[in-house]
Amino acid sequence: MPDRYAVIGNPVTHSKSPWIHQQFARATGEDIEYSRLEAPVDGFVRAVEAFRAQGGKGLNVTLPFKQQAFRLCAGTSERAAAAQSVNTLLLDRGKPWGDNTDGVGLVRDLGANLGRSIAGARILLMGAGGAAQGVLVPLAQSGAAAVVVANRTLPRAQLLAARVPGVSACSYEALAGQSFDLVVNATSAGLSGDLPPLPRGLFRPGGFAYEMVYGRNTPFLAMARAAGVAASDGLGMLVEQAAESFLLWRGIRPETGAVLAALRAQ
Ligand code: ATR
Repeated sequence: MPDRYAVIGNPVTHSKSPWIHQQFARATGEDIEYSRLEAPVDGFVRAVEAFRAQGGKGLNVTLPFKQQAFRLCAGTSERAAAAQSVNTLLLDRGKPWGDNTDGVGLVRDLGANLGRSIAGARILLMGAGGAAQGVLVPLAQSGAAAVVVANRTLPRAQLLAARVPGVSACSYEALAGQSFDLVVNATSAGLSGDLPPLPRGLFRPGGFAYEMVYGRNTPFLAMARAAGVAASDGLGMLVEQAAESFLLWRGIRPETGAVLAALRAQ
């Protein structure tokens, strides 16, 4: 019997995680089964317990359950504790243990796939919701010269920034006159075709725009490209965070290049 894993979320129908993990399993020779688990919005804990009772070894957690997954865990990694959210559950240690691989996935995509150095960079993180929360600490700990969190609702940005030494918060209006080497869009604005109000001159020469949403040409990507700024969506982050989860579960970090190229071609 292969060891069982799944991605749990709501909705989860379009998740690419099963395909990605099947490719990883094939490439590494690991015998696993990986499926989709759609939990009712009010039934996350019950669904996890049922999966565990059936012998499930681990889960990837996606929207809207990452904060609930954190609260469910008996223990977590430091980076999950810092993010107060969990995207990877290990269920074969007696009690559920959680990690968050989103931030390291983003940092690896930027460095290894996109050739962007974070060390010494001035970074703007847009958004202060769950997505921003998941990546802030790994971004801030990668040697950036400065990290600024901007959010439509300023108090949320201030709360988030206050938790991480050296990170500051501001409104979009207060970005006027500031410039950055890397701007990461961790808002959900692109999903509804919106763009936070960004001032002109936001990107330094050679700057880079990273959209955490993948698979669509969001207004943020379109704006960056129209301004001649190099840009990427979040598909590489999706593959890299998956590889980190696979490593936690199986003790082997799969190669990501071929999987990412195949997804890009789809
Ligand atoms: P997620 O888990 O995807 O981060 P979330 O916790 O609901 O979802 O957070 C969504 C983020 O996108 C927030 O930072 C939100 O800003 P507010 O805190 O002011 O609500 C941001 N966001 C969503 N739509 C936006 C828009 N049209 N313009 C600017 N920011 C937007």
